[in-house]
Parts: sequence; structure tokens; C-alpha cells
Amino acid sequence: MSYKDLNKIDGKIDKERIREKDSNALKVIESVFDFQTSMVLVKLMNKGILKDISFVISTGKEANVYHAYSSKKEEFAIKIYRTTTAEFKRNWIYVQGDPRFKKYKKGTYSFIYTWAKKEYKNLKRMLNAGIPVPKPEIVNKNILIMSFIGEKQNAAPLIREVNLKKPGKVYSEILDILSLMYNEAKLVHADLSEYNILYYKNKPIIIDVSQAVLLDHPQAAFFLYRDVSNINRYFSSLGVKTLNNSDLFEQITGVQPNPKLELYEIDR
Ligand SMILES: Nc1ncnc2c1ncn2[C@@H]1O[C@H](COP(=O)(O)OP(=O)(O)OP(=O)(O)O)[C@@H](O)[C@H]1O
Ligand SMILES: [Mg+2]
Repeated sequence: MSYKDLNKIDGKIDKERIREKDSNALKVIESVFDFQTSMVLVKLMNKGILKDISFVISTGKEANVYHAYSSKKEEFAIKIYRTTTAEFKRNWIYVQGDPRFKKYKKGTYSFIYTWAKKEYKNLKRMLNAGIPVPKPEIVNKNILIMSFIGEKQNAAPLIREVNLKKPGKVYSEILDILSLMYNEAKLVHADLSEYNILYYKNKPIIIDVSQAVLLDHPQAAFFLYRDVSNINRYFSSLGVKTLNNSDLFEQITGVQPNPKLELYEIDR
């Protein structure tokens, strides 16, 4: 594909501004990312939003996360969703019926862009509700830029990688977060576990929220029950005296869970 075709993909890309130094950057970027992703990254560099993509923090099933610097030397985390992955096929249930994404069209690219946007919107909503999450900066196609949790290029660890001195305190902080998420942000995380909580400056920070659903999602109660079970399982393994799953569910929602939900207790 030539630069001419580029304008068709995104009319906003200004050919003239892809200067010589950028074309070197482009060569490096293109060796790692696919063409469309490279073009978005170069565009963000031309706009001065990104200066440098430093290194990969994580390579997951659906996305890779990179460390980057802005032109103002802020540290960012860039989550780049893979445009080729079978994993997305099972993810439509988290989007279907969400009034925020009524216009979602079938097709892998469209789905992945929607998925990235969903993570951006969910992060914003959580941040507005006072939940500790990375601050979302920009979403463009399959790329989400957010604040980097960590400092001087050292990413904060997951809580599962930390030897928590006071696990009981962290447990109760996470219960407060669950309550804020449900009652203020009106969302259920739907993939909450020790794998999606960072530990930074002695506080839990919630990440990976693309699959979070609004409360009126038909399976919101099931997802919440699963989140609650995961958190209880993890913290009881650390010796914390946890609430039982149904009591915690009730504490968050104000209602008892449907007894059928207990059938779905899942171990990761
Ligand atoms: N804002 C951030 N700051 C620092 N590190 C981050 C940030 N966001 C994500 N990470 C790191 O990248 C990893 C993957 O992020 P995330 O969980 O959002 O993606 P994922 O697609 O679910 O990946 P996986 O399949 O590995 O779970 C996290 O476990 C964390 O170590
Ligand atoms: Mg994750």
C-alpha cells in the first residue's frame, strides 16, 4: 500500500508532515506493527502526542502493551489490540445490547475498534466515579493510550506478584472499588481477578476494562458474581477472612444473588 492509499484510510493523515526523520521511525515501527497500526502511530508522533515507543511491557492474547513517552516526557502505556485474533469471536457478548455501541457493525476491524473504544469509555467512566484506573488519553482505531502506572520505565506489578504485607487492607480497598464500580460508575468489570489489578504506591489500581458492561447487560449479575468469587478466592488463599460470595454480592448490589449463580463458581 502506498502513501496515496493512506489518505483513503484516514483523510487526516497529512502526507507532507511525514518528514524524513519520521520515515526512519516508520521503518522501525513497521517492522513491529502492521501497516494500519504503524500509520496511526506515525500520525500520533507527527501530532507530537507520542515521542518514542520504548519497549514492550506485555504481550497478551488480545493486545500488546508498550511503554512510551509523550513529547512532554510524560510516560504512557499504549495498548495495541491485535487486528488478527480468534479471541475476539467470543467477545461480542460484552458489546451486544450496549446502547453506547449501537452502531457497531459486524467485521473484525470494526469490532476491534469498538473494543478499544469500549475500554477507553469504561476507563473514563470509572475515573469519573473515583475508581483508581489508568487515565485514558486517546483512542484511535486499535490503539489506546493511557497513563503509565509506574515510574521511570518500571511498570507497577500485578497484585499477584507482590508479597502484600496487609492483604486484609487491600481486600477491603478492592471491596470499596467494587462498590464504587457498581453504584457510581454503574459498571461490572467482568474480568476482575489478581491478573487485572496492579499494585502501585501501596494501592490497588484496576486495569483491563474493555469487557466491563453496564448494569443492564443481561449477564451483569453473573459477571459480578464471578468477579466477587475471584476476589474472594484470591484473598482467602492469602489467609484473609473473606465474606462469602453471596454476602459480598449483596453488600455491593443491595440484593441477594439468584441462587443459580452459585453454580457458576469458577477457578481460573
Ligand atoms: N496503564 C498501564 N501501566 C502500566 N502497565 C500496564 C498498564 N496497562 C497494562 N499494563 C501491563 O500490561 C499487562 C496487560 O494489560 P491488560 O491486562 O490490559 O491487557 P490484556 O490484553 O488483558 O493482556 P493479557 O491477555 O495478558 O491479560 C498488564 O498485566 C500490566 O502488566
Ligand atoms: Mg489482562
